[in-house]
Amino acid sequence: MKVLFVCLGNICRSPAAEGVFLHLLQQKGLTDSFQVDSAGTSSIHNGERADERMREHALKRGIELPSRARQFVSKDFERFDHIVVMDDSNFENCKKLVMHVEDIGKIIKMAAFCPESGQSEVPDPYYGGAAGFEKVMDMVTEGAENLLKKWGY
Ligand code: 4NP
Repeated sequence: MKVLFVCLGNICRSPAAEGVFLHLLQQKGLTDSFQVDSAGTSSIHNGERADERMREHALKRGIELPSRARQFVSKDFERFDHIVVMDDSNFENCKKLVMHVEDIGKIIKMAAFCPESGQSEVPDPYYGGAAGFEKVMDMVTEGAENLLKKWGY
């Protein structure tokens, strides 16, 4: 199964989701069953490592974030089975790049798998403080576990 996590800059939320999901796969012995990547709808941070604050908050939970930022492209709809977006604008921006209308069904919202958060989006932490980064970690952890359950693992 091929899963792509998407946010705006690909330096905070989607690298965290990718790292947490990879960590969970490792814990469950499922690494070989998945291909996992992340991307941003913007190219502004292309080539950069995840934001240092995001990496610190992940590392506090024993999780490393290995990703380098890249922009989401139309071809990702062919390369991946599931495109997991962090907020509504990510959803709309991915949808604009779809080449086959049926592929819109590949886009799912991470927050739909985070009922404990009571949020409809994973909030962008970039311009805020530590609490925002913790919130991201909480939500992507809950979401990663529930996505695995949804997919039968
Ligand atoms: P992300 O957060 O979409 O979770 O990676 C952001 C990173 C950078 C910017 C905005 C959001 N930015 O405006 O540069």
